[in-house]
Amino acid sequence: MIERHPNFERLEPTYLFQKIHEKAQTAKKELLDLSIGDISLPLDPSIAEVLAEEALRLSKEIVGYGPSRGYAKLREAVQSHYYPMLSPDEIYISDGAKCDVGRLQLLFGTGRKIGVQDPTYPVYSDTALLLGAQEVIYLPCNRKSEYFVDIKNLPDLDILFLCSPNNPTGAAATREQLTELVKAAYEKEFLIIYDAAYADFIQNPELPKSIYEIEGAQNIAIEISSFSKSFGFTGLRLGWSVVPKALKYKNNAPLYKDWERIIQTFFNGPSCLAQKGGIVALSEVGLKAKKTAIETYLSNAKRLKESFRGFEVSGGDNSPYLWIYFPQMNSWEAFEFLLAEYGILSIPGSGFGKEGEGFIRLSGFSKWCTSCAFILEKKEIQECLLL
Ligand code: MLT
Repeated sequence: MIERHPNFERLEPTYLFQKIHEKAQTAKKELLDLSIGDISLPLDPSIAEVLAEEALRLSKEIVGYGPSRGYAKLREAVQSHYYPMLSPDEIYISDGAKCDVGRLQLLFGTGRKIGVQDPTYPVYSDTALLLGAQEVIYLPCNRKSEYFVDIKNLPDLDILFLCSPNNPTGAAATREQLTELVKAAYEKEFLIIYDAAYADFIQNPELPKSIYEIEGAQNIAIEISSFSKSFGFTGLRLGWSVVPKALKYKNNAPLYKDWERIIQTFFNGPSCLAQKGGIVALSEVGLKAKKTAIETYLSNAKRLKESFRGFEVSGGDNSPYLWIYFPQMNSWEAFEFLLAEYGILSIPGSGFGKEGEGFIRLSGFSKWCTSCAFILEKKEIQECLLL
């Protein structure tokens, strides 16, 4: 029989979120699920209606393959809402940012040095290891470094994955930090893959929502993003990548042509239903619903933050995630404690990397009314853990 691919040996046997899901299945009581960042608000009716219409249309007309890079109308809507500095031709609609993380790395082949933030969303590191990276280099992003990479001491890299607002720490990169990073990418000749999946949560107008707000970024960065969290598309699946025309290889050939080749070869574009929904999501009525959803999730995060007063908590202001330090326990102990004592399902920070040890991540996507009230009532949580 065929041998197992050795790259699987490079991974933890179980994907982090699956491990948490399995823990939840064995719990004997009802849980307050503050773990995975999955939505808790339904799809806006304006979007659902279009999905229903489109589904019926499929029974009346032949709707075959669409353009692999997505419907022009949707690319235009993404560009005009998020990227005034770019053209619709530089947007590629996909079935989600997570899927793009894997596919994008096909552009660069095996044997690359991939930098990730530590703690990191595990999809960057896991896909890099699976796809044959020579090395995944974990760059500490901790309290000391204000949860950003230490730009002055960057190692040699081919690619750096950077997520802002960050999953899991909730920290949003400043304009100054990104400007320095873009400068470093030029000097040290690495490419940035910038994950902006949580950019809609940024409230502080001083903070950049896209890497392309930084001068020169079009020459060294790809951006990925998603309809999942802001528009409630985690189940529908819809996202996009941005590969600017100005982004070139060392030999000066444009990168976008190869990205189009990969998309055509590995993907036929997202479902027509999801795309029609995406067009409505970016219309006036959809954007109004997005505003309400973001406000709701951020207000959940705020209430949760209040529940953990006295703790060292980051995130929650420009991000749906809270990153909480437990001085008396390691991450898994804190996870087990919250689960056993309070029925709270969290994500242990160490699951996101070494620098996450001692932290847990909580998600503001939860149905806060029950969860926050529950935590707030249990004042002894502070007494137990902060002693
Ligand atoms: C998370 O909880 O980190 C995310 O929801 C997972 C994902 O988007 O894949």
